[in-house]
Formats: sequence, structure tokens, C-alpha cells
Amino acid sequence: MQYATRLLNHGPVILLTTADDDGPNVCAVAWCMPWSKKPPRFVMKLGRRHLSWDKLMATGEAVLNVPAAEQAAAVLCAGRTEGRELPPGVDKLAHCGFEALPSRVVRPPRLAGCVAWVECRLVRRDLAEAEGIVFLEAVAAESPHLDEHGTLDVLARPSLHHLGGDRFVADGRVIDLAGER
Ligand SMILES: Cc1cc2nc3c(=O)[nH]c(=O)nc-3n(C[C@H](O)[C@H](O)[C@H](O)COP(=O)(O)O)c2cc1C
Repeated sequence: MQYATRLLNHGPVILLTTADDDGPNVCAVAWCMPWSKKPPRFVMKLGRRHLSWDKLMATGEAVLNVPAAEQAAAVLCAGRTEGRELPPGVDKLAHCGFEALPSRVVRPPRLAGCVAWVECRLVRRDLAEAEGIVFLEAVAAESPHLDEHGTLDVLARPSLHHLGGDRFVADGRVIDLAGER
């Protein structure tokens, strides 16, 4: 039972960026999945004590950044450093080695080097507080790494999947069953 969640969910891990008048923040989120195609919507479990929670609830905006495999150490930094614990004036993004890029629609930044970005607005706010479950609707989405099938080219730019603890696995094999049916 101790490892039950690890058996079902191993990625891709997300870097959630948020921003308010005090500046941006970033945290790692492994428990995130789509829940609607039209419109594209996502659901994630977000700790209500995280600084990211406060910024998301205050502004209703976030970016789901999909990190590349080589960003694993920075992902751990984002997931092990509580924004609230940093000295005043220290930017957690820079502290973890991220470069912020402007988003197209929302205020929180995109993170450079990621394989994809989904800019989102909070929906169903009424459901969030009780369980720390956050519902987000995409308002912009982009990846320079889509292949001719419209899927992420994970062979060229592997994404990162969290196994648990300090362990990740990167995409490395594509199983294409087109033409098999
Ligand atoms: C790989 C990894 C995955 C994580 N996944 C989640 C998650 O799905 N949900 C969550 O609330 N916290 C998750 N965390 C923990 C937060 O990222 C962590 O508590 C972070 O310090 C919160 O930052 P903040 O307080 O600056 O917002 C994860 C941490 C790591 C290292």
C-alpha cells in the first residue's frame, strides 16, 4: 500500500509556475492529468500549504511547463524548496536555475528549455478548497517538439517521469500501433 500511487502515476512531471504582485513561483507537480478534451482541461493535486497554492488562488492563473529530461535536478529543486522558506527577495525560479520567458496569455512565466507549455486559468474554484484538487482550463498551448503525428517527439526531446522519491525515468521508446488494427 505504501507505494500504491507510484504504481499508477509516473509522469510526466509538471513544473507549475504562478505569479502575483510579489513575483513568480515554481513547484513540481507529478499528480496532474487531463480531464476534458474540449475544452482542454486538467486536474492536479496541489498542497494547500504550498506558496504556489496561494498564488494560484489569488490570481487564477498558472502555466503547466513540461520539463525536458536534462532538467531533472532543477525539477527536484522546485519540488524540494518551499518558496516560503527562501529569504525575502530570492526568486525561486532563478534559485533553481530556471530562465523565465513571457507567456502569451497569462501572467505566470513559461520556463525556458521545457518541451511544452500549457497556459491555464483556474475553473471550478468551488471544488478546490475542500480537497486541494485544482481544475485548470488551457488558454494557450505550445510545443516546438510535436512530430508529424501531432504527438510529442520524445525520442528527440525526452520528457521526465517521476517514479517516486529522487527517481525519474525519461521517455526513450515509442510504440506506434498505427496499421495494426
Ligand atoms: C518530483 C516531485 C513531484 C511532486 N509532485 C507534487 C504534486 O503532485 N502535488 C503537490 O502538491 N506537491 C508535489 N510535490 C511537492 C512540491 O513541489 C513541493 O512541496 C514544493 O516545495 C512546493 O513549493 P512552493 O511551496 O514554493 O509552492 C512534488 C515534489 C517533487 C520533488
